Amino acid sequence: MSKSKMFESTLKTGGSGMADFVAIVLAAGKGTRMKSTLPKVLHEVGGKPMVKHVLDAAKASGSTRNILVIGFGGERVREVVGSDAEYKVQVEQLGTGHAVLETRDMLADYDGTVMVLCGDTPLLDEKLLTKLFFEHRNAGAQATVLTAIMPNPNGYGRVIRDQTGRVVKIVEQKDATPDELLVCEINTGIYCFESKTLFSLLSGITCDNAQGEYYLTDVIGMMVCGGGKVWAVAADDYQKTMGINSRAQLAEAEGILRQHKLTRLMDSGVTIMDLNSTFIDEEVNIAPDVIIYPFTWLEGKTTIGTGSVIGPNVRFTDTVVGENVTVHFTYAHQCRLCNNITVGPYVHLRPGTVLADNVKVGNFVEVKNTNVGIGSKIPHLSYVGDTDMGARVNIGSGTITVNYDGTHKHRTIIEDDAFIGCNTNLVAPVSVGKGAYVAAGSTITKNVPSEALGVARARQNNIADWTTKHKGRK
Ligand code: UD1
Ligand code: CA
Repeated sequence: MSKSKMFESTLKTGGSGMADFVAIVLAAGKGTRMKSTLPKVLHEVGGKPMVKHVLDAAKASGSTRNILVIGFGGERVREVVGSDAEYKVQVEQLGTGHAVLETRDMLADYDGTVMVLCGDTPLLDEKLLTKLFFEHRNAGAQATVLTAIMPNPNGYGRVIRDQTGRVVKIVEQKDATPDELLVCEINTGIYCFESKTLFSLLSGITCDNAQGEYYLTDVIGMMVCGGGKVWAVAADDYQKTMGINSRAQLAEAEGILRQHKLTRLMDSGVTIMDLNSTFIDEEVNIAPDVIIYPFTWLEGKTTIGTGSVIGPNVRFTDTVVGENVTVHFTYAHQCRLCNNITVGPYVHLRPGTVLADNVKVGNFVEVKNTNVGIGSKIPHLSYVGDTDMGARVNIGSGTITVNYDGTHKHRTIIEDDAFIGCNTNLVAPVSVGKGAYVAAGSTITKNVPSEALGVARARQNNIADWTTKHKGRK
C-alpha cells in the first residue's frame, strides 16, 4: 500500500481498524400511513425494497451480523430478504424499544457495538454509517445518535441538547412541548449502542407517553441521567436519513434517488437527454458514451454497452445490451442483445430472446424465447416465438411462427441464409434448412430441406375477361 493510500485508509477508519458491529434493523411495523397491504419496508425505491437498501448499507459499512425484526407481513419480508439477514419476530408491535429488546436473546453472548437502524430509510449510504460507527468508537460513548437538521422536522423525534450542547434526551413529536417542537435537529432513528448497557436499560423503559409505546429513544435520556456518555453525529446531508412514512415521502425519496443515479451516470460519461423522463434503477450499469433519449425506463439488472443509443420510449427490464446498439420505442424483458444491433420502432422482445451481433428487428415485431443468429433480420410485422434462427436469415414481413397447438409450445428451426417470404406461417415443430426459400403466403407444415424452395399455397388461376363479362351481366 502506498503511503498516501495508507493515510487515506487511516482517515477512513479513524485509525481504529475495521468497523465491526451487529446491525439490528427494525421492520415490524405496518406503516399505517402508507394505507397498504404490503408491509411498508417492502415498498420499493429505485426498484429495490426499502429494507434491502438499509441492509445493503449496513453490510457495506462493516456489519458482521444483520438481525431483522419482523412482524406485520413478516413472511413476505422474509421471502424478499431471504438469507440476507437473521430474523426475530416481534409478535405485537409495542414500539421501537420493545422491538430492539426482542433481540436480546440472540445477542446474549455479544458484548460490543450494535447499530440500530429502521427499515424505512432507503437513502442511507455506507459512508454515513461508517462515519457513525467510528465517531461512536472514538468518542468511547455508550450511545451515539445520528441526527440531521431537517428543513421540515415535522413527525420526527427532536434531539434536545443543554446549554453546553450536550444531548440530554430525545422527545417524540407527539410528546414535545411547543419549545421543543421548534428544534430542527431530529433523531434519524439510527444509533450505535454498547450492547450490554443498551439491553440493561431497555428492560426498564415504560410506555408512559402519548402513543402508549415503548420508545427506544427513552434509553438516551436514561443513559444521560445515569452518567453515561451519549454522543451525537450530524448527517452532512439530511436527505440521506429521510424516513418514509407516507406515499408522498416515498415519491420524494424515489425522486432523490433517481436524481443521484442520473448524476452518477452523467459523471461517468453517459449522456441523458432529459432528467425528468428517465428512470434508471439503482443496479443498472451503463458504459460511458451511451446516449439515453427521453421516456426511458431501465430496470432491474439491466446493463448497456458503450456506444449504444437508447430511446426514446424504451423499457428494459433485466436486459443485457452490448455495444453500439440502437433501440427506440421498444420493451424488452429478460433478453440479451449483443453488438451492433438496431431494434424498433414498436418492438416487444420477450423473455429468453437473444439477438446475436448485427441483427435488425423493427416495426411492429414480437420475438419470444428465440435465438436470432448473426446478421439476421426481422424487419416488419412478425411474431417469432420459440425459434432457433441461424445467421443471415431474412424474415419477410408478416411472418408468423405458429408455435402453440393449444396445449404445447413447439420450436421452429430456421438455418443459416434461409429466406422466408412475406406472410408465411411456419407451423411448428418445423424446420427450414440452410439456404432454403419459402414462397410468400405459404403455410409451412413440413420441413423444407436445404437449398429447396417450399411453396404451400393454392396456385393462382386468372379468369380471362372476367371483369367485362361481369359488368355486362349488370
Ligand atoms: C422513529 C423514532 C423517532 C425518529 C424516527 C426517524 C422512536 C420512538 N421514534 O419514529 O424519534 O425521528 O423514527 O424516522 O423510536 N418498528 C418495529 N416495531 C415496533 C414499532 C416500530 O419494528 O413496534 C419499526 C418500524 O417498522 C419502522 C421503525 O421501527 O421501520 C420506525 O418506526 P416508526 O413507527 O416509523 O417510527 P417513527 O414514528 O417514524
Ligand atoms: Ca418512521
